[in-house]
Amino acid sequence: MWKPPERIKFFPSLARLPSRQEAQASRLFSPIQLGPISLRHRTWVPAMVPWRSNEEGEVTEDVIQWYARFAQGQPGAIVIEATGIRNVPSGPLLRIGDDRYIDGLKRLTRVVHEASGGHTRLLIQLIDFLRIRRRPDPQVFFERHLVLSEALLERAGLGGMPAEQARQALFEQGPQRWQDLLDARDWQSLQYGAREQVNDLHLPHIRQLPEELPDLFAQAALRARAAGFDGVELHYAHAYTMASFLSATNERSDGYGGSREGRVRLPLEVYRTVREAVGKNYAVGCRFLTEECIDGGTTLDDSRWYALQFARAGIDFLSTSRGGKFDDAKQPGIGQAAYPYTGRSGYECMPQYLSDAQGPFGRNRQATASIRHTLQQEGLHTPVVSTGGVHNFEMAEAMLAAGDCDVVGTARQSLADPDWALKTWLGQGDQVRLCEYTNYCEGLDQKHKQVTCQLWDREALDEPGIRLSLDGKRRLIAPPWQASELSDKPAPTTQP
Ligand SMILES: Cc1cc2nc3c(=O)[nH]c(=O)nc-3n(C[C@H](O)[C@H](O)[C@H](O)COP(=O)(O)O)c2cc1C
Ligand code: SF4
Repeated sequence: MWKPPERIKFFPSLARLPSRQEAQASRLFSPIQLGPISLRHRTWVPAMVPWRSNEEGEVTEDVIQWYARFAQGQPGAIVIEATGIRNVPSGPLLRIGDDRYIDGLKRLTRVVHEASGGHTRLLIQLIDFLRIRRRPDPQVFFERHLVLSEALLERAGLGGMPAEQARQALFEQGPQRWQDLLDARDWQSLQYGAREQVNDLHLPHIRQLPEELPDLFAQAALRARAAGFDGVELHYAHAYTMASFLSATNERSDGYGGSREGRVRLPLEVYRTVREAVGKNYAVGCRFLTEECIDGGTTLDDSRWYALQFARAGIDFLSTSRGGKFDDAKQPGIGQAAYPYTGRSGYECMPQYLSDAQGPFGRNRQATASIRHTLQQEGLHTPVVSTGGVHNFEMAEAMLAAGDCDVVGTARQSLADPDWALKTWLGQGDQVRLCEYTNYCEGLDQKHKQVTCQLWDREALDEPGIRLSLDGKRRLIAPPWQASELSDKPAPTTQP
């Protein structure tokens, strides 16, 4: 992953810990209404792909155990990882693109609701993404993938040569010449792997996205409701299709790009179609970017405006993230796919402990606050979820007290310690296992390996009945936590 050149080290801290009484009277542990559902607390586990599904995209026992473990910590809400809305093979990414997934998802919602004692609301993030190929071997690229045009052959001085020979001749010209000869898009495909973009109006399936996506999202939301989820989060963030529509790089000329109005059109149409399908008594929110953090990308000014459009359309909550784009991703090795969290924008999304003067903690706080203040000024009270480097009670409480957000998302801190909020609520915050922001987990995600946390994945490997990673070296879920004796209440346990 890209790191700021300053490489200043930051260390998380528990900061000031509240007593049990203070915690239970705090804003963080007060309820909030998200459209038709209420959260018991304002703690939120944002979507995180743990690579626990299978090639069929099904809910496996590992998926269930993973989320049950988060639920034992009783956060206000858990958002299940980005889940594909299409009925197409997508590797081991969870899917909801067909009714055959409903039974597995039902089991997941039942187990998670039970594991939290009914305290945690469960949402699922719905995602669409465009095709991306691995970075090709140059020889294979010239032999098979490059589309030969007359213009290219002319430029290379190969006009009239039979295709097979021309391909070989082009390959033999070598990298220096390739950059001059290939058009920008082909050069990029050779360097990074071919990646479809919403601007590719010459491709019929890309042109048709505005026709097909609203219904695909709506069908997925209906399945989520049938499976017992409390709501859905439309994934409008990072490097994926809907975020690409919102992006300032969206230049579509069919009314779905260019101006802000054009760029927000499909996200609003998707939302309205989902809403029509599930009705007003079902929670529908979206996750979007405060800033794309790429050259020429959307700015806070754009996202404040988008937030107003979403809120006016009646969305139940807005969850923010930042960065995480393909545009500035590092070049992958040959045979590897680009990963959208390797460039500067990726750093903004999941900042690490080696940072710049701003540091990794609360990196999206001010931008999110600015969005919330804009909404409030317009009399819109749509709850806003803020995520990014939050890891202790004091910080979360300060964000709520300042009116910077309504709900506090903690992704890696919840991965490091799924019980962190419960421990704090019980006045046992000194037992919280603090995330160190090393991004070991993110490195596993990048390799599509089962995600774990380095702070607990080698602990008690001989514990009876635990499931291990495919390499047999790591435990797949955090060890159980036993609360210390409490004087006025039986001690809860997070034993699975
Ligand atoms: C392993 C991993 C997987 C993630 N998967 C998703 C995802 O599926 N959808 C999403 O919107 N964000 C995803 N994220 C980003 C997080 O939700 C969150 O925005 C980011 O980690 C910053 O928050 P934090 O500082 O609290 O970790 C993922 C993060 C990690 C570490
Ligand atoms: S591996 Fe654990 S400690 Fe490191 S960033 Fe991920 S959650 Fe935090």
